[in-house]
Amino acid sequence: MSPSSTVRPRTTVFAPRLAALLDKHVGQDVFRLEPDTVGVAGVEVADRILSARRATETERPTFKPLHGRSIARGEASAVTRTIGSDVRAALAAYEPRQVDLSGSWPLTGHLFLRDLILGQDPYRLRLLMSRYLELTPKLTWSVIALGAALPGWPRPGDRLTGLGARAAEATGYQDRRYALGMYRRAAAPVCFTVSTLVANALWLGSPLDDSTPNRHLIHEALRMLPPSWNILRNASPEYPVIDDRIGEHDDVLLLPLLSHRDPALWDDPDSFRPERWNDLDPDTAPGYLPFGHSSERCWGRHMVMPLAELLLDLIRGSGLVVDPDQRTGKVPLLGLLGVEDVRLTRPYRV
Ligand code: HEM
Repeated sequence: MSPSSTVRPRTTVFAPRLAALLDKHVGQDVFRLEPDTVGVAGVEVADRILSARRATETERPTFKPLHGRSIARGEASAVTRTIGSDVRAALAAYEPRQVDLSGSWPLTGHLFLRDLILGQDPYRLRLLMSRYLELTPKLTWSVIALGAALPGWPRPGDRLTGLGARAAEATGYQDRRYALGMYRRAAAPVCFTVSTLVANALWLGSPLDDSTPNRHLIHEALRMLPPSWNILRNASPEYPVIDDRIGEHDDVLLLPLLSHRDPALWDDPDSFRPERWNDLDPDTAPGYLPFGHSSERCWGRHMVMPLAELLLDLIRGSGLVVDPDQRTGKVPLLGLLGVEDVRLTRPYRV
């Protein structure tokens, strides 16, 4: 019996629009989604579109313009290096201890990561990681405006993360507002995406089999429930030349959610089978784009893996499982695709 076949089946309930995408378009390469938007899930077309040009600044997921100010590539790369070294420092300093990760995921994982990586930063910075701020951008901007205006701004030299130290250099209200926005832009992907990814892996794979490597669990969770389920490219003259079903004014939505389940690419695509990664290379598997295209792959992916592995190790170590009474998990239609409210609990004692 394969390890994954011992997992009791659970039902994943996709939001209606996601369910309709999966029902209608899995296995298709190019298809119309809206009068001005074409969906793409075919390997070759996706490859040609993503290689045709770089993402523009408004298409980029992390470093879109902030407060109307463009973020230069040099600044984006310096900020990413800073959060990367904060993550490495937090991992190096982490002493395995009894930690309670039971409760609702991804929230529980999010709070653990926030405290692990940003724990030493002052409250006004850590507050920017609140999941409530996701609900309305207005609330986010109010918290940022308030944080920039309050007295007691952190000072260079305080005990801060690298990201906190960058923010501490800001002087004046406008600069501080921008620094807080940038702090959130850089730190949010770490807390939000990694906890979402691990929640998805738990939902699909719990109880975790001792013989299944964490990496295989993560690659398979990224396949079936890719947090970045779509990649947007706005209309561009290169695209109609690549495929004449794409009009000159059509935006293109590339859909890893669909290519990751294409039966022409994957055996038994709707089954969670981490063992398939014994023989597959995640960097070259055709149609597998959880971190984007090889020409412009996610800058943060090297942080994602060790953090997700740490969380999975801690969960394995404490014997937590998805509550056996939880039979369905909802996947809402959001920018970040994930199962909400995965309930992690101790196994029942008989
Ligand atoms: C599960 C976790 C993550 C997933 C699935 C993911 C996915 C992606 C994808 C698909 C792209 C390509 C987008 C495109 O071509 O338009 C991308 C780009 C990028 N990612 Fe990630 N990402 C994750 C975590 C992170 C983290 C932790 C960071 C760190 C700050 C990060 C920073 C970036 C940056 C800087 C880019 C490229 C440029 C930009 O957005 O401005 N990502 N990511």
